[in-house]
Amino acid sequence: MIEHKNNRVQPPYSLLAELTHRCPLHCPYCSNPLEMTLKDHELKTEEWCRVLTQAADLGVVEVHFSGGEPLLWGEDLEALIHHATRLEMYTNLITSGIGLTTEKALRLKDAGLANVQVSFQAGDAKLSDQIGGFKAFDQKRKAVQAVKEVGMHLSLNVVLHRLNIDSLDEIITLAEELEAGRLELANTQYYNWALLNREKLLPSREQIEQASKIYEEAISRIGNKMEIIWVIPDYYASTPKPCMGGWGAVALTVAPNGDVLPCPTAGMIEGISFENIQKSSLNQIWYESTSFNAFRGEVWMPETCRSCDLRHEDGGGCRCQAFALTGDATATDPACHMAPEHSIIEKAVQNANSSSEKPSSPVIYRNYLQHLK
Ligand code: FES
Repeated sequence: MIEHKNNRVQPPYSLLAELTHRCPLHCPYCSNPLEMTLKDHELKTEEWCRVLTQAADLGVVEVHFSGGEPLLWGEDLEALIHHATRLEMYTNLITSGIGLTTEKALRLKDAGLANVQVSFQAGDAKLSDQIGGFKAFDQKRKAVQAVKEVGMHLSLNVVLHRLNIDSLDEIITLAEELEAGRLELANTQYYNWALLNREKLLPSREQIEQASKIYEEAISRIGNKMEIIWVIPDYYASTPKPCMGGWGAVALTVAPNGDVLPCPTAGMIEGISFENIQKSSLNQIWYESTSFNAFRGEVWMPETCRSCDLRHEDGGGCRCQAFALTGDATATDPACHMAPEHSIIEKAVQNANSSSEKPSSPVIYRNYLQHLK
């Protein structure tokens, strides 16, 4: 249940440490902000160590080092992992796998890294490379081998959409073959860059139904051998998701430039200014900042949410989605069937179901090349 009283705010459980926005892939569903942090504005090793110390003091239990591609961050990742481990926080590296050699994996493990999550774009090389806009599949497999060789826990993450959901069985087979302990099947979230490609990425109802069958069959066949996580995407559910477990409820993100956000995409919401770690402490930001308190409790909720019994479960849905689709972050998430603006979702779903053919126009790839310098 989502915590609703400001005076009963619990400490955060997890920290997403986005070290850089730079990334070798060009995924059309990229969740990085439209305006990315340039290399020169990224936090340095000492600044991140300070963030980690403050996070541990605040009560954070697990840290996810992410990006962009965290292995492209030019500073000392091992020092960060070592520091977080010394502070008794669980560490996870979220990576495309590009640049993860056995030597590197061993150094990260020696620093204390507990888990590596490697992203794949599909279950086979051709489609995976096509979706990522980069010949990466074989390098990803090598990265997985490196993780296994040095004896770290492995999870895989695949973002699902119209272009790969029909090959869900191949994705699951790949994860089994690679002996992943966990497979996260994430639905594309249509904000930022992904919203530009929604027409090409939103699956049809038939695709979702077929995928559900494959998923159900897989979890009963595989059992405890591999954890598989997937939920029906909110465009096809009647109620919205309790995004991030609630705004400022269980998790916080520190962006590459030190901005502290209640969720990785919150920076897109206009009219809210987010505090920076160079000016305030994590503790102050978590408990006292205007940004983290903006959507805690029920005071901010529109009448549709405030009078709904599910408000404690879903917290009014996703604030980023509400803003991206309606221009108002305080609106009821249009994914909710009760939302005044639910027709926006219905129209997108109608379009996705109006033809069984995949859209012929190409997806718009994300281009990071100018940021790789
Ligand atoms: Fe920001 Fe849902 S992604 S609140």
